[in-house]
Parts: sequence; structure tokens; C-alpha cells
Amino acid sequence: MQTLAIIGSQWGDEGKGKITDLLSQKADIVVRYQGGNNAGHTIWVDGKKIVLHLVPSGILHPHCLSIVGHGVVLEPEAFMKEVINVRNHIDISKKNLMISENTAVITSWHKQIDAAREGQGAVKIGTTGKGIGPAYEDKIGRKGVRVRDLLNKDQLHSRLKQTAEEKIFLLEKKYGIECLSIDAETERLFQLGQELKEFVGDAFGVLQDALVRGKKVLYEGAQGALLDVDYGTYPYVTSSSTTLAGIHTGAGTLKGQVNEVLGITKAYTTRVGEGPFPTELFDEIGAYIQKTGGEVGATTGRIRRCGWLDLPLLRYSIQCSSLTSIALTKLDILSGMDVLKVCEAYECDGKIFKTARPGMDLSRVKPIYRDLKPFKDDFISDQLTPNLQAYIDLIEKELGIPVGIAAFGPDRKQIKFLKSYF
Ligand code: GDP
Ligand code: IMO
Ligand code: MG
Repeated sequence: MQTLAIIGSQWGDEGKGKITDLLSQKADIVVRYQGGNNAGHTIWVDGKKIVLHLVPSGILHPHCLSIVGHGVVLEPEAFMKEVINVRNHIDISKKNLMISENTAVITSWHKQIDAAREGQGAVKIGTTGKGIGPAYEDKIGRKGVRVRDLLNKDQLHSRLKQTAEEKIFLLEKKYGIECLSIDAETERLFQLGQELKEFVGDAFGVLQDALVRGKKVLYEGAQGALLDVDYGTYPYVTSSSTTLAGIHTGAGTLKGQVNEVLGITKAYTTRVGEGPFPTELFDEIGAYIQKTGGEVGATTGRIRRCGWLDLPLLRYSIQCSSLTSIALTKLDILSGMDVLKVCEAYECDGKIFKTARPGMDLSRVKPIYRDLKPFKDDFISDQLTPNLQAYIDLIEKELGIPVGIAAFGPDRKQIKFLKSYF
């Protein structure tokens, strides 16, 4: 295996950061290919917690080159703050961190518009408020600023001018919010460009060259399949392609191929922000999972909504990203509970659905649950208890792909490989 994609199979926060960090030990390059600092990827090393938002989760391994691909939207101030923070743990230079010169930039106006729409708009999505949607709108609308523009003040000014007038009008006249002038935003972004220019380069070329030379590449997804702008629970989604397709446009591959696709899957389901969630638990079991699982957003600090594992959604995610195996995380949180359920199908308008479909109104489906024998594992011994093994066997049988990794704690070491990667 030369290339492996790590993709969230639910609504994000499945443990992608932890698994990417772990597998980076054997990789040469780790690439983020979509999303921005709406992501929060947590890694625990020797009792220290590191949360990465934009910097790829391979960064803690000095041999590994971490690339921010052109499909990402980058907030330069947040990026530089993160670099300073990560430098407390590891040396960072252009040898181990690179940003594509074509990566889109999040401006101060994007962030303000995101926040204003959430506060005053007709539909509240429950975004992270980081300006992700407005920045992608400008990119697709062909009036975005790219990282390369930050390095030339005149070019930056003229690119900003193309988009700024309507943004400033919107902010000041519609929302009554003060914002930076074009000149002030040019100055701010140019200064930030000077700080990050050592990392800027032809990331696509570097990646292509590495792939041709047989280097091992990990593609690190952000968010999850159900937040994908096309496949997800629209409009309660993010503004990028979080599924396998995002890699092809947001980073690049050889002959369009990714060898294996690992779907990171929490042993239950969580969601932050608005939108339908068929297996959401509003009772003490949901509260228990939220508390025991520490289910609080790594980017916004919001409480995550919790519910049982949802197989119809997972079958759909497998189709959306051609997943070849899954990593089941947070098994320790279910361990010792008195009840254990999985949703095996939906009922809607008298029909049974084994797989969620695009555009299905998930707020109307009724989950059909299967009760399983609860497990109580200490995870220290090499053997899994029969009940946990039965739980994993059932998931494999129902999904038709192997569980390659079982994770039972936030630390790198709290993991069992049931299949080998790289
Ligand atoms: P990501 O966005 O997919 O990288 O996931 P987050 O970092 O937002 O959220 C996952 C949370 O679960 C983090 O706090 C991780 O430290 C933690 N975590 C990951 N795997 C496990 C696990 O197997 N057990 C427990 N208890 N925590 C885990
Ligand atoms: P990681 O990579 C969980 C959610 C937000 C909101 C919706 C749109 O850590 O798994 P946005 O700011 O992207 O416009 O918000 O998407 N969301 C996430 N939820 N994990 C994430 O990333 C998320 N990134 C965005 O809560 O519902
Ligand atoms: Mg997260």
C-alpha cells in the first residue's frame, strides 16, 4: 500500500487526528485536502494534549512532510498561531511543513459574515464561525484570494478589491457591523503572508513527485461524510467535499488512485451544530455518553449531541467514499454500560431502509434498533471479551468491510491493530 485516505464516516470528531498521527509513523507525507480551522483534531502524546486545526496531524513525526493542500481554506492568523503552539513540541520549518500556493485564504470579512449570518440569518446551520462557507463561496465564485496573493502587496490589494466592496456593503449596511477597509485588510494579510511565506510552495508538484518515487502518502480528511456538501445532510453540512472525491480535487493523486480508504468511526454517533440525527439520545444514556466520552467540540467547545451507532448511515458513508475498512474508536466509552444498541435499519412511511440515501429526510426516519450483549473490557489483555468480539463481528458482517483498528483510549498506545496498514 502506498496511499491511504483517512476519512470521517459520521459527522466529524471520530478520532481522525489520533489515527492519522499514529499511522504517520510509517508515512512520508500527510496531506490535508479540504476544510479549514473548523476542524479540531486531537492528539495525546505522553499525557500532553495537542489540538490541530490546520496543521496536518503528521507534524509530530519529524521525518514526515505535512502538506496543506490547495483544497483547504486557510486562515493565516490561525495558522501562524498554531505553528507557534506546535513549536512547543517539535521543530517546524519548510522541511516538514508546506502550504500550497493555491490554497484559498479566509479573510476577516469571511469570518464576520459567517458569524452575522448565524446570528441574524434565516437558517441557522450551527457553523464553527470560522468563515469557512463564505471563503468557499468566493473561491467557487472566482473572486477568492489565494496564499500566493499574500506575497505581493499590489496583487493582494487588487484581488481583495474584487470581493471587498460587496462584503463591506453587506457587513456595514445589512448587518450593521464595522469591518476593516480594503487597505487595512491588505496590510494585515500582507504581514501574515511575510510570516508564512517560508512554507509556501508548489505542493502539488512535490506530492506528484513523491508519489512517482513510491513515497507513502496519507490523506487526512477533516469533518465527516455526513457533513459533505453533496452527500451530507444538506443544508446542515460544511462547504467542502469531505468524502474521497475531495482528495482528487483538493490534493491530487496518481492516476486518480488511492489504495485504501480507512473510515474513522466512533462506536456511537455524535454531532455538533444543527441538523437531523436519527439515533440521537435525549435521555440519561445520551447524557452518560456525552459526559464519559468528554464529547465537547475541540474547536468551539460546544457540547456534542450523542446517540447510538447508525448502520444505515455507515452503509451510505461506505458508498460515498469507497471505504475499504474502518477504525472503530472510543470503544472504552461503551465498555461497562448496561445496555448496548445499534440502529440496523430505518422505517419511513411504512418502508424499511437498510441504507440512507442522498436527500433522504433524516428528521422523519424511525430507527430500528438491535439490542446487543453489553461488553466490559479492560483492553489491557490481548484478547477481546466474547461480547466485544461479537459486537465487532456484527459490525463487520453488517457493513461488509473489516474493522482494521479498535481504539480504546485517546493515547497513541490505546489501540489494537486487527489489520495492517502500510
Ligand atoms: P477528530 O476531529 O476526528 O480528529 O476527533 P476529535 O479530536 O475532534 O475528537 C475525538 C476525541 O476523542 C478526542 O478528544 C480524542 O482525544 C478522543 N479519542 C480518540 N480516540 C479515542 C478512543 O478510542 N477512546 C477515547 N476515550 N477517546 C478517544
Ligand atoms: P473535524 O475535522 C464536527 C460542523 C459544524 C456545523 C457544520 C458547518 O474536527 O471532525 P462550518 O464551520 O464548517 O461551516 O460548519 O459542520 N463541523 C464539524 N463538526 N467536526 C468537525 O471537524 C467539523 N467541522 C465543521 O459544527 O454543524
Ligand atoms: Mg474534531
